[in-house]
Amino acid sequence: MATPVMDKAEAGAPANNSPYITITLRIRRFNPEVSDEAYWEDFTVEVDPKERVLDVLHKIKWELDGTLTFRRSCAHGICGSDAMRINGRNRLACKTLIKDVNPEKPITVEAIKGLTLQKDLVVDMEPFFQAYRDVMPFLVTKGNEPTRERLQSPEDRERFDDTTKCILCAACTSSCPVFWNDGQYFGPAAIVNAHRFIFDSRDEAGEQRLEILNDREGVWRCRTTFNCTEACPRGIEITKAIQEVKRALITRRY
Ligand code: SF4
Ligand code: F3S
Ligand code: FES
Repeated sequence: MATPVMDKAEAGAPANNSPYITITLRIRRFNPEVSDEAYWEDFTVEVDPKERVLDVLHKIKWELDGTLTFRRSCAHGICGSDAMRINGRNRLACKTLIKDVNPEKPITVEAIKGLTLQKDLVVDMEPFFQAYRDVMPFLVTKGNEPTRERLQSPEDRERFDDTTKCILCAACTSSCPVFWNDGQYFGPAAIVNAHRFIFDSRDEAGEQRLEILNDREGVWRCRTTFNCTEACPRGIEITKAIQEVKRALITRRY
């Protein structure tokens, strides 16, 4: 089916009494097949301020420029695929309303930092997921297969409740200055996911995970900058979780 195309000049000019406003989305574009240099491109779009940045990116892709490249899937803050820098701050495009990002001025949208840029808003996520895999993000138990459910008290469940909320969006890791300077650092997201299992009373590989994070690129690289905590769209207290892992490494109690 043909994609509807709207000329860039047609954008804007809302009808009387319309809730729509005209905004400028300033997107950092990059296409390695054309140039090694990234550049900013402005798109003028008519939007309802209650729409989300993701809706506007769709509008641009579907009506103005089909080459615009970005990741998204669920559109509801669950899959974690559309983290990007909006007005200089890491956010999920599907959870960010236009009215909340100062639409009177051009809204800047660019890829998250610290990971290799592939095209427009898409970065290479492989180093991020490798760090995640490295901390063994799965329950490890020994002995025979259980014949019944592994029980856990509400208090024990509470110890790692916060870190179960991670959706692996990378907003935290890509906002961390240590990670920007040293892409080898495990990064806050990997530590959050290690925390989720280290403090799970049913798991039996806590020591192993702690040793992995005792590495020179592990938890000790964290400088308690708090960027990660501020960036997390799930409200996870990431810096606190990192501190808990550091304490567990010192005391070997978890
Ligand atoms: Fe995203 Fe928060 Fe998980 Fe980091 S901890 S990957 S910011 S959900
Ligand atoms: Fe980085 Fe978060 Fe630590 S931003 S330095 S991992 S507190
Ligand atoms: Fe899934 Fe935004 S598209 S979290």
